[in-house]
Amino acid sequence: MITIEGNPMDCFDFYNPVKVLFGKGKIAAIANEIPTDARVLMTYGGGSIKKNGVYEQVKAALAKHTVLEFGGITPNPELEILLDAVKLARTEEITYLLAIGGGSVIDATKFIAVAVPFVGDLWDILVANAPLTAALPLGTVLTLPATGSEMNSYFVVTRRSSQEKLQSRSELVFPRFSVLDPTVTFSLPRHQISNGIVDSFTHTLEQYLTYPVNAALQDRMAESILLTLIEEGPKTLAAPTDYDARANLMWCATIADNELIGAGVPQDWSTHMIAHELTALYGLDHAVTLAIIMPSLLTYKRDTKGAKLLQFARRVWGITQGNDEQRISQAISATRNFFESLGLSTRLRDYGLDSSCISEVIESLDKHDLVPLGERQDITLEDVRQILSLSI
Ligand code: NZQ
Ligand code: ZN
Repeated sequence: MITIEGNPMDCFDFYNPVKVLFGKGKIAAIANEIPTDARVLMTYGGGSIKKNGVYEQVKAALAKHTVLEFGGITPNPELEILLDAVKLARTEEITYLLAIGGGSVIDATKFIAVAVPFVGDLWDILVANAPLTAALPLGTVLTLPATGSEMNSYFVVTRRSSQEKLQSRSELVFPRFSVLDPTVTFSLPRHQISNGIVDSFTHTLEQYLTYPVNAALQDRMAESILLTLIEEGPKTLAAPTDYDARANLMWCATIADNELIGAGVPQDWSTHMIAHELTALYGLDHAVTLAIIMPSLLTYKRDTKGAKLLQFARRVWGITQGNDEQRISQAISATRNFFESLGLSTRLRDYGLDSSCISEVIESLDKHDLVPLGERQDITLEDVRQILSLSI
Protein backbone atom coordinates (compact mmCIF):
# COMPACT_ATOMS: atom_id res chain seq x y z
CA MET A 1 0.00 0.00 0.00
CA ILE A 2 1.37 3.39 -1.03
CA THR A 3 1.10 6.09 1.60
CA ILE A 4 0.85 9.79 0.91
CA GLU A 5 2.36 12.60 2.92
CA GLY A 6 -0.17 15.06 4.32
CA ASN A 7 -3.79 14.34 5.14
CA PRO A 8 -6.50 16.52 3.57
CA MET A 9 -8.50 16.06 6.80
CA ASP A 10 -5.85 18.11 8.61
CA CYS A 11 -7.29 21.28 7.15
CA PHE A 12 -10.03 22.10 4.64
CA ASP A 13 -12.50 24.77 3.53
CA PHE A 14 -16.13 24.17 2.73
CA TYR A 15 -18.49 26.82 1.40
CA ASN A 16 -21.96 26.43 -0.07
CA PRO A 17 -24.42 29.32 -0.04
CA VAL A 18 -27.23 27.77 -2.14
CA LYS A 19 -30.76 27.90 -0.73
CA VAL A 20 -32.72 24.77 -1.65
CA LEU A 21 -36.50 24.87 -2.05
CA PHE A 22 -37.47 21.20 -2.09
CA GLY A 23 -40.85 19.63 -2.74
CA LYS A 24 -44.14 19.63 -4.60
CA GLY A 25 -45.38 23.03 -5.69
CA LYS A 26 -42.19 24.86 -4.71
CA ILE A 27 -41.88 26.63 -8.07
CA ALA A 28 -44.47 29.13 -6.84
CA ALA A 29 -41.98 30.24 -4.17
CA ILE A 30 -39.46 31.66 -6.64
CA ALA A 31 -41.38 34.93 -6.71
CA ASN A 32 -40.13 35.58 -3.17
CA GLU A 33 -36.52 34.84 -4.10
CA ILE A 34 -36.13 37.21 -7.05
CA PRO A 35 -36.34 40.96 -6.40
CA THR A 36 -39.53 42.40 -7.91
CA ASP A 37 -37.63 45.10 -9.76
CA ALA A 38 -35.30 42.56 -11.44
CA ARG A 39 -35.17 42.19 -15.20
CA VAL A 40 -35.22 38.39 -15.42
CA LEU A 41 -33.95 36.22 -18.27
CA MET A 42 -35.46 32.72 -18.19
CA THR A 43 -33.19 30.20 -19.86
CA TYR A 44 -34.27 26.74 -20.99
CA GLY A 45 -33.53 23.91 -23.38
CA GLY A 46 -35.26 22.28 -26.29
CA GLY A 47 -38.80 22.54 -25.01
CA SER A 48 -39.44 19.81 -22.43
CA ILE A 49 -40.58 22.50 -19.98
CA LYS A 50 -43.36 23.49 -22.36
CA LYS A 51 -44.70 19.93 -22.45
CA ASN A 52 -44.66 19.11 -18.73
CA GLY A 53 -46.21 22.26 -17.30
CA VAL A 54 -43.03 23.68 -15.76
CA TYR A 55 -42.97 26.67 -18.11
CA GLU A 56 -46.52 27.67 -17.11
CA GLN A 57 -45.72 27.31 -13.42
CA VAL A 58 -42.69 29.58 -13.72
CA LYS A 59 -44.59 32.17 -15.76
CA ALA A 60 -47.38 32.16 -13.20
CA ALA A 61 -44.93 32.55 -10.33
CA LEU A 62 -43.24 35.49 -12.04
CA ALA A 63 -46.42 37.19 -13.25
CA LYS A 64 -45.41 40.43 -11.54
CA HIS A 65 -41.80 40.39 -12.74
CA THR A 66 -40.33 41.59 -16.03
CA VAL A 67 -39.36 38.34 -17.74
CA LEU A 68 -37.58 37.71 -21.03
CA GLU A 69 -36.77 34.28 -22.43
CA PHE A 70 -33.90 32.44 -24.08
CA GLY A 71 -34.69 28.87 -25.15
CA GLY A 72 -32.91 26.36 -27.34
CA ILE A 73 -29.95 25.51 -25.08
CA THR A 74 -28.72 22.06 -26.17
CA PRO A 75 -27.48 19.18 -24.04
CA ASN A 76 -23.74 19.74 -23.54
CA PRO A 77 -24.37 23.48 -23.97
CA GLU A 78 -22.59 25.09 -26.88
CA LEU A 79 -20.65 28.31 -26.75
CA GLU A 80 -21.91 29.28 -30.18
CA ILE A 81 -25.52 29.36 -28.89
CA LEU A 82 -24.66 30.94 -25.56
CA LEU A 83 -23.05 33.92 -27.27
CA ASP A 84 -26.55 34.90 -28.47
CA ALA A 85 -27.85 34.69 -24.91
CA VAL A 86 -25.03 36.90 -23.66
CA LYS A 87 -25.81 39.44 -26.37
CA LEU A 88 -29.50 39.43 -25.44
CA ALA A 89 -28.76 39.80 -21.73
CA ARG A 90 -26.46 42.74 -22.39
CA THR A 91 -28.84 44.50 -24.79
CA GLU A 92 -31.84 44.02 -22.52
CA GLU A 93 -29.91 44.98 -19.38
CA ILE A 94 -30.87 41.76 -17.62
CA THR A 95 -30.19 41.77 -13.88
CA TYR A 96 -31.18 38.19 -12.88
CA LEU A 97 -30.96 34.81 -14.60
CA LEU A 98 -33.33 31.90 -14.02
CA ALA A 99 -32.26 28.53 -15.40
CA ILE A 100 -35.02 25.97 -15.93
CA GLY A 101 -33.72 22.55 -16.91
CA GLY A 102 -31.03 19.97 -16.31
CA GLY A 103 -27.29 20.39 -15.92
CA SER A 104 -26.86 21.73 -19.43
CA VAL A 105 -29.23 24.67 -18.97
CA ILE A 106 -27.89 25.40 -15.49
CA ASP A 107 -24.25 25.25 -16.63
CA ALA A 108 -25.11 27.42 -19.63
CA THR A 109 -26.72 29.95 -17.34
CA LYS A 110 -23.71 30.02 -15.03
CA PHE A 111 -21.59 30.76 -18.09
CA ILE A 112 -23.95 33.55 -19.18
CA ALA A 113 -23.82 34.95 -15.65
CA VAL A 114 -20.06 35.44 -15.74
CA ALA A 115 -19.90 36.19 -19.47
CA VAL A 116 -22.20 39.22 -19.41
CA PRO A 117 -19.82 41.43 -17.39
CA PHE A 118 -16.67 39.79 -18.81
CA VAL A 119 -14.37 41.86 -21.01
CA GLY A 120 -12.47 39.85 -23.63
CA ASP A 121 -12.83 36.62 -25.58
CA LEU A 122 -15.55 34.62 -23.79
CA TRP A 123 -13.96 31.23 -24.61
CA ASP A 124 -11.04 32.31 -22.41
CA ILE A 125 -13.37 31.75 -19.44
CA LEU A 126 -13.07 28.03 -20.18
CA VAL A 127 -9.86 27.54 -22.07
CA ALA A 128 -7.64 29.97 -20.17
CA ASN A 129 -9.39 29.95 -16.79
CA ALA A 130 -9.57 33.72 -17.13
CA PRO A 131 -10.06 35.45 -13.76
CA LEU A 132 -13.74 36.09 -13.04
CA THR A 133 -14.61 39.11 -10.94
CA ALA A 134 -18.34 39.64 -11.47
CA ALA A 135 -21.49 37.68 -12.30
CA LEU A 136 -25.21 38.22 -12.62
CA PRO A 137 -27.16 36.51 -9.83
CA LEU A 138 -28.93 33.34 -10.85
CA GLY A 139 -31.53 30.88 -9.60
CA THR A 140 -32.50 27.47 -10.92
CA VAL A 141 -35.51 25.21 -11.33
CA LEU A 142 -34.01 21.74 -11.68
CA THR A 143 -35.79 19.29 -13.99
CA LEU A 144 -33.22 16.47 -14.20
CA PRO A 145 -31.41 15.10 -11.12
CA ALA A 146 -27.88 14.24 -12.21
CA THR A 147 -25.11 16.79 -12.24
CA GLY A 148 -25.47 18.63 -8.93
CA SER A 149 -24.98 21.87 -10.84
CA GLU A 150 -28.00 23.28 -8.99
CA MET A 151 -25.92 23.38 -5.80
CA ASN A 152 -22.32 23.71 -6.92
CA SER A 153 -19.98 26.23 -8.48
CA TYR A 154 -18.96 24.31 -11.61
CA PHE A 155 -20.01 24.71 -15.23
CA VAL A 156 -19.12 22.81 -18.39
CA VAL A 157 -19.36 24.32 -21.86
CA THR A 158 -18.67 22.85 -25.31
CA ARG A 159 -17.25 24.71 -28.30
CA ARG A 160 -18.71 22.83 -31.20
CA SER A 161 -16.41 24.36 -33.82
CA SER A 162 -13.33 22.83 -32.18
CA GLN A 163 -15.00 19.80 -30.51
CA GLU A 164 -13.82 20.92 -27.10
CA LYS A 165 -15.70 20.45 -23.83
CA LEU A 166 -14.19 22.24 -20.85
CA GLN A 167 -15.14 23.04 -17.30
CA SER A 168 -14.57 26.00 -15.04
CA ARG A 169 -15.65 27.06 -11.59
CA SER A 170 -16.28 30.20 -9.64
CA GLU A 171 -17.92 30.92 -6.30
CA LEU A 172 -19.71 33.71 -8.16
CA VAL A 173 -21.94 31.18 -9.94
CA PHE A 174 -23.36 29.35 -6.96
CA PRO A 175 -27.12 29.71 -7.57
CA ARG A 176 -28.87 32.01 -5.08
CA PHE A 177 -31.60 29.37 -4.87
CA SER A 178 -32.59 26.11 -6.52
CA VAL A 179 -36.06 24.62 -6.70
CA LEU A 180 -36.12 20.83 -6.49
CA ASP A 181 -39.65 19.63 -7.15
CA PRO A 182 -39.48 15.86 -7.75
CA THR A 183 -42.81 15.88 -9.64
CA VAL A 184 -41.27 17.85 -12.52
CA THR A 185 -38.97 14.88 -13.16
CA PHE A 186 -41.91 12.53 -13.86
CA SER A 187 -41.74 13.47 -17.54
CA LEU A 188 -38.11 12.39 -17.98
CA PRO A 189 -37.48 9.71 -20.59
CA ARG A 190 -36.26 6.48 -19.06
CA HIS A 191 -32.72 6.82 -20.38
CA GLN A 192 -32.33 10.26 -18.82
CA ILE A 193 -33.34 8.88 -15.41
CA SER A 194 -30.69 6.19 -15.82
CA ASN A 195 -28.15 8.78 -16.93
CA GLY A 196 -28.84 10.75 -13.77
CA ILE A 197 -28.34 7.72 -11.54
CA VAL A 198 -25.03 6.84 -13.19
CA ASP A 199 -23.80 10.44 -13.09
CA SER A 200 -24.61 10.77 -9.37
CA PHE A 201 -23.08 7.37 -8.60
CA THR A 202 -19.90 8.35 -10.44
CA HIS A 203 -19.63 11.74 -8.72
CA THR A 204 -19.80 9.93 -5.41
CA LEU A 205 -17.20 7.33 -6.37
CA GLU A 206 -14.81 10.02 -7.54
CA GLN A 207 -14.80 11.56 -4.08
CA TYR A 208 -14.69 8.19 -2.30
CA LEU A 209 -12.60 5.63 -4.19
CA THR A 210 -9.15 7.07 -3.58
CA TYR A 211 -7.18 6.19 -0.42
CA PRO A 212 -8.19 6.24 3.26
CA VAL A 213 -7.64 9.42 5.27
CA ASN A 214 -9.78 8.51 8.28
CA ALA A 215 -12.57 10.73 7.01
CA ALA A 216 -15.20 8.60 8.72
CA LEU A 217 -18.17 10.88 8.09
CA GLN A 218 -17.36 11.60 4.44
CA ASP A 219 -16.97 7.86 3.83
CA ARG A 220 -20.30 7.06 5.50
CA MET A 221 -22.04 9.87 3.60
CA ALA A 222 -20.66 8.64 0.29
CA GLU A 223 -21.69 5.06 1.09
CA SER A 224 -25.18 6.27 2.03
CA ILE A 225 -25.56 8.01 -1.30
CA LEU A 226 -24.35 4.94 -3.20
CA LEU A 227 -26.66 2.61 -1.28
CA THR A 228 -29.61 4.95 -1.74
CA LEU A 229 -28.98 5.16 -5.49
CA ILE A 230 -28.77 1.36 -5.69
CA GLU A 231 -32.07 1.05 -3.81
CA GLU A 232 -34.08 3.97 -5.19
CA GLY A 233 -32.79 4.11 -8.79
CA PRO A 234 -34.44 0.88 -9.95
CA LYS A 235 -37.63 1.80 -8.05
CA THR A 236 -37.84 5.02 -10.05
CA LEU A 237 -37.42 3.18 -13.32
CA ALA A 238 -40.05 0.60 -12.36
CA ALA A 239 -42.60 3.14 -11.12
CA PRO A 240 -41.97 6.50 -12.83
CA THR A 241 -44.54 8.41 -10.77
CA ASP A 242 -43.39 7.10 -7.38
CA TYR A 243 -42.87 10.46 -5.65
CA ASP A 244 -40.84 9.06 -2.77
CA ALA A 245 -38.36 7.31 -5.06
CA ARG A 246 -38.04 10.46 -7.19
CA ALA A 247 -37.53 12.63 -4.16
CA ASN A 248 -34.80 10.37 -2.80
CA LEU A 249 -33.10 10.23 -6.17
CA MET A 250 -33.23 13.99 -6.59
CA TRP A 251 -31.72 14.70 -3.19
CA CYS A 252 -29.02 12.06 -3.75
CA ALA A 253 -27.97 13.69 -7.02
CA THR A 254 -27.71 17.10 -5.38
CA ILE A 255 -25.76 15.92 -2.34
CA ALA A 256 -23.46 13.76 -4.48
CA ASP A 257 -21.99 16.82 -6.15
CA ASN A 258 -22.53 19.86 -3.94
CA GLU A 259 -18.91 19.81 -2.75
CA LEU A 260 -19.83 18.46 0.73
CA ILE A 261 -18.70 14.82 0.56
CA GLY A 262 -15.50 15.93 -1.15
CA ALA A 263 -14.46 18.28 1.65
CA GLY A 264 -11.36 17.03 3.41
CA VAL A 265 -10.82 13.95 1.24
CA PRO A 266 -8.64 13.19 -1.77
CA GLN A 267 -10.55 13.21 -5.06
CA ASP A 268 -10.08 11.57 -8.42
CA TRP A 269 -12.05 13.19 -11.25
CA SER A 270 -10.13 11.41 -13.99
CA THR A 271 -13.22 9.48 -15.15
CA HIS A 272 -14.98 12.79 -15.79
CA MET A 273 -12.00 14.36 -17.52
CA ILE A 274 -11.56 11.44 -19.93
CA ALA A 275 -15.33 11.17 -20.39
CA HIS A 276 -15.72 14.85 -21.31
CA GLU A 277 -13.32 14.31 -24.20
CA LEU A 278 -15.40 11.35 -25.45
CA THR A 279 -18.55 13.48 -25.43
CA ALA A 280 -16.81 16.37 -27.18
CA LEU A 281 -15.43 14.11 -29.91
CA TYR A 282 -18.28 11.64 -30.44
CA GLY A 283 -21.39 13.24 -28.96
CA LEU A 284 -22.14 10.46 -26.46
CA ASP A 285 -24.34 11.40 -23.46
CA HIS A 286 -22.35 12.53 -20.43
CA ALA A 287 -23.40 9.57 -18.27
CA VAL A 288 -22.78 7.07 -21.05
CA THR A 289 -19.13 8.10 -21.19
CA LEU A 290 -18.84 7.76 -17.40
CA ALA A 291 -20.31 4.25 -17.51
CA ILE A 292 -17.68 3.32 -20.10
CA ILE A 293 -14.67 4.77 -18.28
CA MET A 294 -15.33 4.17 -14.56
CA PRO A 295 -15.13 0.32 -14.53
CA SER A 296 -11.94 0.39 -16.61
CA LEU A 297 -10.37 3.07 -14.46
CA LEU A 298 -11.09 1.06 -11.31
CA THR A 299 -9.67 -2.06 -12.92
CA TYR A 300 -6.51 -0.25 -13.99
CA LYS A 301 -5.99 1.52 -10.64
CA ARG A 302 -7.09 -1.37 -8.42
CA ASP A 303 -3.74 -1.53 -6.61
CA THR A 304 -3.49 2.11 -5.52
CA LYS A 305 -7.23 2.22 -4.75
CA GLY A 306 -7.18 -1.21 -3.11
CA ALA A 307 -8.01 -0.25 0.49
CA LYS A 308 -11.03 1.84 -0.50
CA LEU A 309 -12.16 -0.72 -3.08
CA LEU A 310 -12.24 -3.34 -0.33
CA GLN A 311 -14.25 -0.99 1.89
CA PHE A 312 -16.59 -0.26 -1.05
CA ALA A 313 -16.98 -4.01 -1.67
CA ARG A 314 -17.90 -4.72 1.94
CA ARG A 315 -19.99 -1.72 2.91
CA VAL A 316 -21.79 -0.98 -0.36
CA TRP A 317 -22.05 -4.30 -2.16
CA GLY A 318 -21.98 -6.59 0.90
CA ILE A 319 -19.10 -8.62 -0.58
CA THR A 320 -17.30 -10.56 2.14
CA GLN A 321 -16.25 -13.83 0.49
CA GLY A 322 -12.91 -14.46 -1.19
CA ASN A 323 -9.45 -12.98 -0.94
CA ASP A 324 -8.67 -9.29 -1.42
CA GLU A 325 -8.17 -9.57 -5.19
CA GLN A 326 -11.39 -11.51 -5.62
CA ARG A 327 -13.43 -9.05 -3.56
CA ILE A 328 -12.04 -6.10 -5.50
CA SER A 329 -12.88 -7.81 -8.80
CA GLN A 330 -16.40 -8.54 -7.56
CA ALA A 331 -16.93 -4.91 -6.52
CA ILE A 332 -15.84 -3.63 -9.93
CA SER A 333 -18.09 -6.17 -11.66
CA ALA A 334 -21.01 -5.21 -9.41
CA THR A 335 -20.52 -1.57 -10.42
CA ARG A 336 -20.42 -2.41 -14.11
CA ASN A 337 -23.48 -4.66 -13.74
CA PHE A 338 -25.36 -1.88 -11.92
CA PHE A 339 -24.74 0.53 -14.80
CA GLU A 340 -25.78 -2.13 -17.32
CA SER A 341 -28.90 -2.99 -15.31
CA LEU A 342 -29.97 0.63 -15.71
CA GLY A 343 -29.68 0.29 -19.48
CA LEU A 344 -26.28 1.88 -20.10
CA SER A 345 -23.75 -0.15 -22.03
CA THR A 346 -20.24 0.04 -20.63
CA ARG A 347 -18.10 -0.61 -23.70
CA LEU A 348 -16.98 1.75 -26.45
CA ARG A 349 -17.83 -0.91 -29.03
CA ASP A 350 -21.48 -0.75 -27.98
CA TYR A 351 -21.49 2.80 -29.38
CA GLY A 352 -19.70 1.96 -32.62
CA LEU A 353 -16.27 3.08 -31.40
CA ASP A 354 -13.05 1.06 -31.62
CA SER A 355 -9.40 1.53 -30.68
CA SER A 356 -9.00 4.26 -33.30
CA CYS A 357 -10.66 6.69 -30.87
CA ILE A 358 -7.92 6.28 -28.27
CA SER A 359 -5.35 8.55 -29.92
CA GLU A 360 -7.92 11.29 -30.45
CA VAL A 361 -8.90 11.30 -26.78
CA ILE A 362 -5.24 11.32 -25.72
CA GLU A 363 -4.49 14.23 -28.05
CA SER A 364 -7.40 16.25 -26.64
CA LEU A 365 -6.38 15.63 -23.03
CA ASP A 366 -2.84 16.63 -23.89
CA LYS A 367 -3.97 19.76 -25.74
CA HIS A 368 -6.04 20.82 -22.74
CA ASP A 369 -3.17 20.15 -20.39
CA LEU A 370 -5.39 17.91 -18.23
CA VAL A 371 -2.82 15.25 -17.33
CA PRO A 372 -1.57 14.00 -14.97
CA LEU A 373 -4.88 12.96 -13.44
CA GLY A 374 -5.97 11.06 -10.34
CA GLU A 375 -5.84 11.55 -6.59
CA ARG A 376 -2.09 11.01 -6.72
CA GLN A 377 -1.61 12.85 -10.00
CA ASP A 378 -0.09 9.65 -11.32
CA ILE A 379 -2.34 8.96 -14.32
CA THR A 380 -0.36 9.87 -17.41
CA LEU A 381 -1.38 9.90 -21.06
CA GLU A 382 0.02 6.37 -21.36
CA ASP A 383 -2.18 5.28 -18.45
CA VAL A 384 -5.21 6.86 -20.12
CA ARG A 385 -4.34 4.86 -23.24
CA GLN A 386 -4.42 1.66 -21.16
CA ILE A 387 -7.69 2.64 -19.46
CA LEU A 388 -9.30 3.32 -22.84
CA SER A 389 -7.96 0.00 -24.16
CA LEU A 390 -9.78 -1.73 -21.30
CA SER A 391 -12.96 0.12 -22.35
CA ILE A 392 -13.16 -1.11 -25.96
O1 NZQ B 1 -33.64 20.46 -23.55
P1 NZQ B 1 -34.90 19.92 -23.01
O2 NZQ B 1 -36.02 19.91 -23.98
O3 NZQ B 1 -35.28 20.52 -21.69
O4 NZQ B 1 -34.65 18.33 -22.74
C1 NZQ B 1 -33.65 17.84 -21.87
C2 NZQ B 1 -32.43 17.29 -22.60
O5 NZQ B 1 -32.75 16.87 -23.89
C3 NZQ B 1 -34.19 16.63 -21.17
N1 NZQ B 1 -34.93 16.95 -19.95
C4 NZQ B 1 -34.50 17.62 -18.86
N2 NZQ B 1 -35.44 17.65 -17.92
C5 NZQ B 1 -36.53 17.00 -18.42
C6 NZQ B 1 -36.21 16.56 -19.72
N3 NZQ B 1 -37.07 15.88 -20.49
C7 NZQ B 1 -38.29 15.61 -19.97
N4 NZQ B 1 -38.66 15.99 -18.72
C8 NZQ B 1 -37.80 16.67 -17.92
N5 NZQ B 1 -38.18 16.99 -16.66
O6 NZQ B 1 -33.06 15.88 -20.82
C9 NZQ B 1 -32.06 16.05 -21.81
C10 NZQ B 1 -30.70 16.13 -21.16
O7 NZQ B 1 -30.60 17.30 -20.37
P2 NZQ B 1 -29.17 17.80 -19.83
O8 NZQ B 1 -29.38 19.04 -19.07
O9 NZQ B 1 -28.19 17.83 -20.97
O10 NZQ B 1 -28.72 16.59 -18.88
P3 NZQ B 1 -27.85 16.60 -17.59
O11 NZQ B 1 -28.58 17.16 -16.43
O12 NZQ B 1 -27.36 15.23 -17.47
O13 NZQ B 1 -26.64 17.61 -17.88
C11 NZQ B 1 -25.51 17.19 -18.60
C12 NZQ B 1 -24.52 18.34 -18.70
O14 NZQ B 1 -24.02 18.72 -17.41
C13 NZQ B 1 -22.58 18.64 -17.40
C14 NZQ B 1 -22.33 17.55 -18.40
O15 NZQ B 1 -20.99 17.53 -18.84
C15 NZQ B 1 -23.30 17.92 -19.50
O16 NZQ B 1 -22.81 18.98 -20.28
N6 NZQ B 1 -22.08 18.41 -16.05
C16 NZQ B 1 -22.10 19.45 -15.18
C17 NZQ B 1 -21.59 19.35 -13.91
C18 NZQ B 1 -21.60 20.47 -12.97
N7 NZQ B 1 -22.00 21.66 -13.36
O17 NZQ B 1 -21.22 20.30 -11.80
C19 NZQ B 1 -20.97 18.11 -13.42
C20 NZQ B 1 -21.32 16.93 -14.24
O18 NZQ B 1 -20.38 15.94 -13.99
C21 NZQ B 1 -21.38 17.20 -15.71
O19 NZQ B 1 -20.08 17.26 -16.27
ZN1 ZN C 1 -21.02 14.13 -14.17
